[in-house]
Amino acid sequence: MVRGPSRTRAASRSAARAAAGAAPLEAFRRIGGGRPGVGPSRPPGRHPPPILWLTSCSVEVLAWRLLVFSEGGVVGSGDGAVGVAVLGLGEMGGALARAVLGGGHPTIVWNRTAGKGEALVAEGAREVAGVREAVAAGRVVVVNVKGNAVARELLEAAGDVLRGRVVVNLTDGTSREVREVAAAVAARGGEYLHGQIMTIAPGVGHPDATVFYGGSADVHERHREVLGLFSGQAPLVSEDPGVAVLYGMAVHGTMWGLLNGFLHAAAALSDEGVEVGRFLEEAKSPLAALSAFLPSLAEEVDQGRFATPYGALRHHLPSIEDLVRESRARGIDDELPEYSRALVAAAIGRGHGDDGYSRLVEHFRKV
Ligand SMILES: NC(=O)c1ccc[n+]([C@@H]2O[C@H](COP(=O)([O-])OP(=O)(O)OC[C@H]3O[C@@H](n4cnc5c(N)ncnc54)[C@H](OP(=O)(O)O)[C@@H]3O)[C@@H](O)[C@H]2O)c1
Repeated sequence: MVRGPSRTRAASRSAARAAAGAAPLEAFRRIGGGRPGVGPSRPPGRHPPPILWLTSCSVEVLAWRLLVFSEGGVVGSGDGAVGVAVLGLGEMGGALARAVLGGGHPTIVWNRTAGKGEALVAEGAREVAGVREAVAAGRVVVVNVKGNAVARELLEAAGDVLRGRVVVNLTDGTSREVREVAAAVAARGGEYLHGQIMTIAPGVGHPDATVFYGGSADVHERHREVLGLFSGQAPLVSEDPGVAVLYGMAVHGTMWGLLNGFLHAAAALSDEGVEVGRFLEEAKSPLAALSAFLPSLAEEVDQGRFATPYGALRHHLPSIEDLVRESRARGIDDELPEYSRALVAAAIGRGHGDDGYSRLVEHFRKV
């Protein structure tokens, strides 16, 4: 029994249980009788608006539907699995499990090192001792562990219990690694969705938080409600799980480039005794223009057209050379600006001096 859901969910669940008697799921399966639209799970794919789905039926079926609705549509794998299992209760996995609990779902948790689920159990989760037990109990299986080699190992160990389960793997890795996890799940009869989390643990569930999904469009659609507990933004970017990984890496790669550049600038400013915060205030406008520059860069890369009337590479070069000389004179790191200088100088050397900065994509493509 889940503790801690909203009063409305709790009330609807107890109303359904009261109507159905002591063994609600069994009773409701009998009531549903497998008829389309009233069986043990909501019809896959598109659902009617919740209020219509709830009310357009007899009182008995209404009671059953209230239970299904109150449990977020995850009832009914056909073999007794109810709720959401979370494998891995580290910093991120713990936050994901708490979000599932907060959504009012029966929550089953497993972690390699016992004891990490204690606080979640106190809030209403059920902790189990083995992966197979967790997978058997959860219609949806959320995986969040250290690396996809571990994720795959755990899911392979679950074996045939994976049949009919929906695996939402939120473990970071490379595109190839997550495709291998997807194949391992499919080979055992499970459905698969990879999610690339773009926030830290306290951001889980925030309306602005993003998780990029790749995999089954049907799973993404059917489990929209559960996915919405993790992030307000949950786009399916591809049916290939590997592409979702690349989306995440593209954000991170951009972030590290920006952070390195900013911290190098901060080193130069603080070497001069300038407060970095003051600089940020006064340089707001040119810094904001940087992100406004990205769409034109993207268009040039997508179209493979790099010529530009203004701001060509030959105009970048003298400014980068200034930064290299300034860094050397101050005795701060010159490796980062020298790296940029060498890229630009090499592109100019190949005859691209009149092209925009986007031309450098060829360096990164290694063409
Ligand atoms: N933390 C974040 O802010 C954040 C943000 C975005 C994405 N992520 C991703 O989320 C995933 C988990 O990260 P985390 O920060 O939560 O890591 P963490 O706090 O170090 O937790 C790692 C989890 O993996 C489990 N684990 C490690 N090796 C295992 C093995 N051989 N067998 C079974 N379980 C094993 C750990 O179990 P034990 O408790 O037994 O060690 C623990 O539950 C990673 O892919 C990470 O990149 C994290």
